[in-house]
Amino acid sequence: MQNNEAHITWHLNENGDPQPYSSLFNDVYFSSDDGLNETEYVFLQGNALAERFNTLNQFTIIETGFGTGLNFLCAAQLWLNIAPAQSTLHFISVEKYPLSLHDLVKALQLFPSLQLLTADLIAQYPQILSRKTIRLFNQRVKLTLMIGDASQCLSGFQHKADAWFLDGFAPAKNPDMWGETLFSQMARLSHVQTTLATFTSAGAVRRGLQAAGFKVSKRAGFGKKREMLHGCFTDNFSLGKPLD
Ligand SMILES: C[S@@+](CC[C@H](N)C(=O)[O-])C[C@H]1O[C@@H](n2cnc3c(N)ncnc32)[C@H](O)[C@@H]1O
Repeated sequence: MQNNEAHITWHLNENGDPQPYSSLFNDVYFSSDDGLNETEYVFLQGNALAERFNTLNQFTIIETGFGTGLNFLCAAQLWLNIAPAQSTLHFISVEKYPLSLHDLVKALQLFPSLQLLTADLIAQYPQILSRKTIRLFNQRVKLTLMIGDASQCLSGFQHKADAWFLDGFAPAKNPDMWGETLFSQMARLSHVQTTLATFTSAGAVRRGLQAAGFKVSKRAGFGKKREMLHGCFTDNFSLGKPLD
């Protein structure tokens, strides 16, 4: 497995706040207008997590692209707010180009409302990079970070997802994260109530997910994006059977 570093430059948004930008992929990590509300809209609402979290004792999210950890922290915050007290959220993410601790801290300073959770993540970030599963937030959230290419990492993985966060850079700039190999691994790691959400509405992504057995719909996108995709696994394949 490769372990490459993220190449981050900082671009000021309209408010003068420095936003992380990938010079490897020429793309943003999250909306420079409002990253927090983008995550809430695209990934939390897109997977109906507020409706699902309060009835379950455990829940697994798999994300492609950990980046700054913003999506992780937002999902954890929702879980801590509404899931039953003894319940556990398992958040699994794959990341090929992890941020340095310095860049992660700088990026997450943009979100003061997450400050308490951020402190716990930052304290344990070096451990996470050594590929351990860690527990955070009074043991109520488990974080597994797999370092490497998303499709490769998932091919060796067995844990089923209840929800997918597809958050690679834009498909045109980062095709490795949006191909048939990844979608077939997603199908293998899904069950009939598994949902997915992603910021993109690219036709190739929609068709690839459908071919792998996901029912996919468009909804209005966040901010300047016209549309996004969300959906659920149906076990109804046009390209073949899941791998197990
Ligand atoms: C849009 S950013 C993710 C933002 C992140 N979810 C957050 O909350 O900050 C896309 C991420 O995908 C990672 N990435 C790019 N190619 C990858 C690959 N082939 N496998 C795994 N991760 C990859 C990038 O390094 C980057 O961190």
